[in-house]
Amino acid sequence: MTKNFTVTPWEVSGEIDYNKLIKEFGTQRIDETLRERLRKVCGGKLHHMLERDFFFSHRDLDRVLNDHEKGKGFFLYTGRKPSKGMHIGHLVPMIMTKWLQDKFKCNLYIEITDDEGFLHKKERTWEGVQEAAKENILDIAAVGFDPERTFIFKDSEYIRNVYPLLMKTARKITGSTVKAVFGFNDSTNIGIHMYPAYQAIPTFFEKKRCLIPCAIDQDNYWRIQRDVAEGLGYYKTAALHSKFLPPLQGVTGKMSSSAGVETAILLTDDEKTVKNKVNKYAFSGGQPTVEEHRKKGGNTDVDVAYQWLKILFEADDTKLRTIETNYKSGKLLSGEMKMILIEKVNAFLKEHREQRKKAEKTVERYTRNGKLATQMWERIYE
Ligand code: TYM
Repeated sequence: MTKNFTVTPWEVSGEIDYNKLIKEFGTQRIDETLRERLRKVCGGKLHHMLERDFFFSHRDLDRVLNDHEKGKGFFLYTGRKPSKGMHIGHLVPMIMTKWLQDKFKCNLYIEITDDEGFLHKKERTWEGVQEAAKENILDIAAVGFDPERTFIFKDSEYIRNVYPLLMKTARKITGSTVKAVFGFNDSTNIGIHMYPAYQAIPTFFEKKRCLIPCAIDQDNYWRIQRDVAEGLGYYKTAALHSKFLPPLQGVTGKMSSSAGVETAILLTDDEKTVKNKVNKYAFSGGQPTVEEHRKKGGNTDVDVAYQWLKILFEADDTKLRTIETNYKSGKLLSGEMKMILIEKVNAFLKEHREQRKKAEKTVERYTRNGKLATQMWERIYE
């Protein structure tokens, strides 16, 4: 297949054709029929990231709903590779996951892959990764999951509870599989070769179907999980994939901390930084002069400020439509569009900071002593 983009867990580049990705990865589109079914089950409108096709692809979501309707239930799983500088894109799957947990009242496991974070970059120290993990866990806890139904764990700590199952899983995955799926070669360190087995483990935490909200870059892992799961006596995992929150510089590609701090809004950015970054770097769909803009109008398809409002920050459909109409007609200027976004992002980050502060006191409910966390520390997976 000819294509001019790349999507792997470590590299996202080029102009991503999401329809092509669905074909290439062999996933399924979330179509209107499935959305309608979800609306029925959830009792009304879906989260706007689902309504607006930002979560666009899935594996076995229909089977998850069947299990739910039969009373068998399912559980949620998502994760984060710790690094300094979490950006708002990293919260996208977390926000979706919280919405699903609120709707379905199910258990949730959040894997903090300190092993992956360390193995992945030569310049990182073990201590540095642990420090980042601690910070990232607070940012994740700030999203507000159910503390009795959520377990957040670091791979290095939970290893003793899962080692036998990890070995059984690892024995089923060959070097040639991970080379083919992830593009590893003989210079890739052997820790990284082994790591994909661990990312499958949380999908086996319960003998129910697992649903994983994440961006589509993580799907490679689920393909491997789905190859080995039934042989180990578990379900093939289900997944719910999002597109990527784009960087400030343009609507293609993905917001990523490694691409440079000026391309992303970090969760630690203060009000002034947000304002400067958006004003200076957000790619605009506006015309070069005010006069021309009033005459021809702006292009919302390429305007990053508008796209961020649509994806995440403006939940109200009517308000979003007004913004779109006014921009296209030239009534709303590019600088004004950016101002709307700046206010929204700053309100979002203010709330996040407050919740994060509270999480400093409650985080152990998720990691140690909440109902699910307590059960998980007593469990051994063989
Ligand atoms: P990591 O830390 O690279 O990313 C964490 C989650 O954020 C998603 N993501 C984005 N989503 C939308 N827009 C973006 N610009 C963007 N950038 C990142 C990722 O898809 C991911 O869901 N190997 C994993 C850690 C992990 C995991 C999991 C992730 C372990 N188990 C289960 C998801 C589900 C990683 O490196 O994620």
